[in-house]
Amino acid sequence: MAKFLITGALPYINGVKHLGNLAGSLLPADIHARFRRQTGHEVLFLCGTDEHGTPAELAAHAAGLPVADYCAQQHTLQADIYRRFGLSFDHFSRTSGAANRALTQDIFRRLDAAGWIDERTIRQAYSPTDARFLPDRYVVGTCPHCHNPGARGDQCESCTRVLDPRDLIAPRSAISGAADIEFRDTRHLFLRLSAFEGRLRSWVESRSDWPVLVRSIALKWLDEGLRDRCITRDLSWGVPVPKSGFEGKVFYVWFDAPIGYIAAAVEWAEAATGRDWRSWWEGGDGVRFIQFLGKDNVPFHTVSFPATLLGSGLPLKLPDTIKGFNWLTFEGGKFSTSERRGIFTDAAIAALPADYWRWWLAANAPESADTDFTVDRFVAGVNKDLADTFGNLVNRCLTFAATRFDSTVPSGGTSSLVSRDLGRELTTHVQQLRQHHEALNFRKAADEVRAIWRLGNAYLAEAAPWSVIKDDPAQAAAIVRLGINFVRAAALVAWPFIPTAAEEVLECLGEDSSRVPWPEHGAQALTAIPPGRRVRVPSLLFRKIAPTDVVATA
Ligand code: 2FM
Ligand code: ZN
Repeated sequence: MAKFLITGALPYINGVKHLGNLAGSLLPADIHARFRRQTGHEVLFLCGTDEHGTPAELAAHAAGLPVADYCAQQHTLQADIYRRFGLSFDHFSRTSGAANRALTQDIFRRLDAAGWIDERTIRQAYSPTDARFLPDRYVVGTCPHCHNPGARGDQCESCTRVLDPRDLIAPRSAISGAADIEFRDTRHLFLRLSAFEGRLRSWVESRSDWPVLVRSIALKWLDEGLRDRCITRDLSWGVPVPKSGFEGKVFYVWFDAPIGYIAAAVEWAEAATGRDWRSWWEGGDGVRFIQFLGKDNVPFHTVSFPATLLGSGLPLKLPDTIKGFNWLTFEGGKFSTSERRGIFTDAAIAALPADYWRWWLAANAPESADTDFTVDRFVAGVNKDLADTFGNLVNRCLTFAATRFDSTVPSGGTSSLVSRDLGRELTTHVQQLRQHHEALNFRKAADEVRAIWRLGNAYLAEAAPWSVIKDDPAQAAAIVRLGINFVRAAALVAWPFIPTAAEEVLECLGEDSSRVPWPEHGAQALTAIPPGRRVRVPSLLFRKIAPTDVVATA
């Protein structure tokens, strides 16, 4: 048994997230957390809302609310949506909480004392029309690298490059649209990232087991040379900078947001006795720390956050593995929060149960390349895999047990008369499945789960208990008993992906759905449910869906 510290990138507070956000960090993180718990490990799965910075201020401004009220409202809304999607966080935090404020200020003081912070005067965008400084996203313009006309002052979403507002071509204010941008002097604090280049490079280069996507983005960043990073802003919403001369300024959101991962553990520990957050964050090699995030977040997690941790001198863990994801696109274009293009998590969960979305998004995870979500592909995939394959296996087997064996696991007969060595085949698949989960290959893991469901259907079709029963009821009984046990195994391997349906099936089989074991040994798994147990048919596990079930905004 090992300890797994698992984090999903903290979703921004600025509005309900779309399916791309779910597919590219929170869902795979949840699937992995469930798999590790299921295989007997201790897991601490943390997440929370990322609440500071200009995205929060701009969204609150647009909603006509004070920013603190807006964040409180949005946090509740997002937390509720994730609960309905079955995301099994041990704690869902807020970066605007007291724990994150204290930790961020403490880490800053340590960095400052160790000489990693420089004071500099910079020229910052200022809008006379808006009568204020315009940090980061308050300035928009054209990306100097890829010419995306909607690049923000802090990062270009299109080419993922981190930007400085001064890099933008034709900058304008995001509040008023005013193009009268001036650059005025203002005093700020810089994290001397450049001083960490060597340590970060050896760290990244030593991680040959990282996904190619993450390693290549990290190395590209390092190859381009690290620029010292301004970590303070002329804003009022954020963690106040605890240094004289910097009153009224706050930390840059990307400085305090990843510290929010640690703050989440602190809050989790404070919520009950006997919990020790340090045993996770200071756990050394005894803890495996895995982070899940979209490719735009890779630089912050491979460079600036590790530099912050290293520079603090605190004995805090750096991630052992970072699983990065490409984009989920929508009908050939981008999902866009600002343009409300795509399918948003609130509308998705209102339209269909979580498992439909969870399955498709994991089975088509944007791992080695972008994945295009189309309503037609979604409907076809879900109907084929969930209704025709898993649902059919469960229904066929349990309906037959209900009608011919009085809803009871039958005794008698021996299933060895059937040609397949089902136990051995199941073991092989389950071992493969474990390897795919351990390698964080979500598509391959889903393929393996599907293969197990298909194996069950193939077995029932071959063994044909509905024909056998006429001449040999004992053998039909043995086939059905084996089939019921196979249904149990099929639900167990499905659980990390589609927990609600899997638990429903387990309950129909009289199993304790709060304890979901891993069916490593096929032969044992296929005798787990004894004869005489009452079973029932689930009402309707998965219905066939139509494109009209899917409400998209495009
Ligand atoms: O991309 C995003 O949604 C960011 N809010 C992720 C932050 S991850 C962490 F570092 F806080
Ligand atoms: Zn760009």
